[in-house]
Amino acid sequence: MTASPLLQVRVRALTYEAQGILGIELVPLSAENPLPAFSAGSHIDLHLPTPQGPLIRSYSLLNDPRETHRYCIGVNKDARSRGGSAYVHASLRAGDILTISAPRNNFPLDEAAPHQVFIAGGIGITPMLGMLARAQALGTPWTLYYTARTRAHAGFLDLLETAAGAGNGQVVLNFDQEPGGRMLDLPAIVAALPAGAHLYCCGPLPMLEAYEKATAGLPAARVHKEYFAAKDAPATEGGFTVELVRSRQSLQVPAGKSILDCLIEICAEPPYSCREGICGTCEVKVLEGTPDHRDLVLSDSERAANDRMLVCCSGARSARLVLDL
Ligand code: FES
Repeated sequence: MTASPLLQVRVRALTYEAQGILGIELVPLSAENPLPAFSAGSHIDLHLPTPQGPLIRSYSLLNDPRETHRYCIGVNKDARSRGGSAYVHASLRAGDILTISAPRNNFPLDEAAPHQVFIAGGIGITPMLGMLARAQALGTPWTLYYTARTRAHAGFLDLLETAAGAGNGQVVLNFDQEPGGRMLDLPAIVAALPAGAHLYCCGPLPMLEAYEKATAGLPAARVHKEYFAAKDAPATEGGFTVELVRSRQSLQVPAGKSILDCLIEICAEPPYSCREGICGTCEVKVLEGTPDHRDLVLSDSERAANDRMLVCCSGARSARLVLDL
């Protein structure tokens, strides 16, 4: 496995987008070196030099995927921040230079869909902005349901207004904590889907769980989702052996540690970022054995194939795993 290339970018602007949400525009250090192209739904990792030490955090790209002169992200000030969003909100300044990863996409748009339906909660709006720009460019009809606590908490409304005004899309706003507000009615949205429509959801965990329930009767290929927090506890039960074919090493994973923890100890770790099974960076090929998948990146069919795993959070159902490391 090769590490994702790292890039240096400059923070060109920080903008107030909504209560608790900053927009950040990142540009190349030199205008002659455009940024790597990305597809709608991609994210980048920010390497943040926080006072607690370096942290890597993933953020969705929200600008039009045709742009190569900048990456735009939105950062929500998370009350449970482990240091990443708190650093961005308190310390990041226009002009700073940041190290970032090249874009990766775990949440791609199915461009063959006849209609795209986006469902966003809070900061989950960010991947949807790039997706609806792409749908717009393809001429695909789209509908966006965007729910936030109040209008003051809803970021990027100006972008949505422009997108909706361009012709083939519709924005439905929902503010559940305003007077008379209610949670988004996901079963009603699913019941009224245009024929063949694909759905995409990103938002807080309870919303994603309600989405999974509401879409359970739809073909899995039409239902897409992206989590930004872990859903399951990581596998740290231990009690199995991991063999690394390329470095010809073998290790015993004890209780209380993840496979990634053990790989780091012997300096054999793959690239990694979130350590929660949500970014996809630590994916490794499985050559033998059966993983105990705990990530939120692999699809059901990818999990069933058992030929790859996310080693930061997944363990083993077999006594031995052989990895392509
Ligand atoms: S490091 Fe993010 S999925 Fe493993």
